Parts: sequence; structure tokens; C-alpha cells
Amino acid sequence: MSSDPVIVRQPSSKPGLKIPGHIGVIMDGNGRWAKARGKPRTEGHIEGVNALRRMVELCIRYGVKHLTVFSFSSENWTRPKDEINFIFSLLRRFVASDLQKLIAHNVRVRIIGSRDGLEDSLRRLIEDVENKTARNTGLNLHVAFNYGGKAEITEAVRRIAEEVAAGSLRPADIDERAVERALYTSGIPDPDLIIRTSGEQRVSNFLLWQGAYSELVFVEDNWPDFDERTFLRVLDEYALRERRFGGIEAAGQ
Ligand code: IPE
Ligand code: IPE
Ligand code: MG
Repeated sequence: MSSDPVIVRQPSSKPGLKIPGHIGVIMDGNGRWAKARGKPRTEGHIEGVNALRRMVELCIRYGVKHLTVFSFSSENWTRPKDEINFIFSLLRRFVASDLQKLIAHNVRVRIIGSRDGLEDSLRRLIEDVENKTARNTGLNLHVAFNYGGKAEITEAVRRIAEEVAAGSLRPADIDERAVERALYTSGIPDPDLIIRTSGEQRVSNFLLWQGAYSELVFVEDNWPDFDERTFLRVLDEYALRERRFGGIEAAGQ
């Protein structure tokens, strides 16, 4: 795995650019990228990590505050064991090779997803990277790992039910904020924009609650090909969107 440094240049100031506060990315198409080149799927995942590094750098340069990346879904357990092991080893290698750079660039890393079923050593690694970056105040990088939106909501419901059973919460006090507090993403603003690569146009269980009003942009490129040009094309598309949140068009538009 190459470990190109995260190079931080001056923030770009392209006129008309609207920078979302929070971008979610469904990083899809690693396997197809590899297949198109006659390579094993693992090569696609390796290049996918390099694309993630590029994306982190882009978000830092353009001043995005939160980036959530979908790296392994609760449904990806249905894949061959070898591929799962490879993806898990990539996470370990990414942390080992990039942690110091992420700290140097003031990136705060959090892993969202279920910790059940993960090996102890992996759990410790996750806690370590979260602790070591906890005081950073720059880009917030949320890695959705062993994540599924339905599982997240189910866990939240269970936690709320436990509070009710313990007598510390009344059913009448269960409102949207109570649910939000019980999600993995408690305290994190909802994504303004969700990007999915590889031409697939579905959400695949990503941020189901949080994405209720996100703008969705689907791009044809496979994730390993995602670069600044594509990023800017997506931001151009985002700038054209009118967000209404159920209301009517904003005055003057
Ligand atoms: C996304 O690429 C990475 C993960 C889901 C872990 P895929 O592995 O889904 O690649 P395709 O969709 O088969 O091309
Ligand atoms: C979604 O991609 C999960 C990740 C990108 C980690 P998948 O490749 O698993 O989604 P489907 O199976 O095409 O819906
Ligand atoms: Mg896929």
C-alpha cells in the first residue's frame, strides 16, 4: 500500500462553490475497478484506500468539517472470508500508516458502527485512534465500519427501551432528539450531501436516519478513480440543488 502523504495546500476559492458542512460517501466500485484491469478485487480495495486519502486531503483543503465514509457494511459479512479479512487488514494498515499524518493535520477520527463481533485487537485499535485524535479540531473523519443504518436504529431503540425499563425515561419524552442521542452519530450534524460512486443509485443501508434530507449525487466513476475533478463536479451539482426541508422555495430564489 502506498502511503502518499496528505498534502495540505491553500483552500481553493472557486467562485460559486458551496461547501457542504458534512459529506457522506458510499465508496463503491473497488471490485469493478480491479476487474476492469484484470486484477484481483483486493487491488481495488488497496486503490480505494488511496482514494480515501485523496478525499481526506480534499475535504481539508476545501474546508469540509465532517466526512463520513462507508467502508464496511453490516451486510458485507456475506462476502468471501478472504475478502473480509483483507478489508479488515487494510483498516489496520491504514491506521498504522496514516495515524501520525492524521494527527499532524488536526483530523479527529471516529468509527461508527457495531463493535459486536469485532476481534478484541481491532476494538483496541479503534479506541486507540479515537483517543489519540479526540482533541483535534480540524476535519472530523467518521469511518462507518461494520455499519448498517437498520442495525444502528435497532440498537438505538433497544437502548431507549432499556432507559424506559429502568425508569429514567418516560415514553412521552421519546422525541427525535432522544433517538438522535441514541444513534452512533450522536452530536454529529446530518450529512448535507451523500455521494455514491460506481453508478449504483441506492443507499444500501447508509445513514438511513441522518440522510433524511441529504442531497444525493451519484457518479459513474468507481471509487478508486475518485479525484479532485470529480469532487468539483459533484460540488457544482450540489450548488445547483435547492434544499427545501419540506418548506417552500427560499425568498428571492
Ligand atoms: C466498495 O467496493 C468497498 C466495499 C463494499 C467494502 P466493492 O467491493 O463493493 O466493489 P464492487 O461494487 O464489487 O465493484
Ligand atoms: C455499500 O456497497 C457498502 C460500502 C461501500 C462499504 P455494497 O457494494 O456493499 O452495496 P450493494 O451490495 O451494491 O448494495
Ligand atoms: Mg459494491
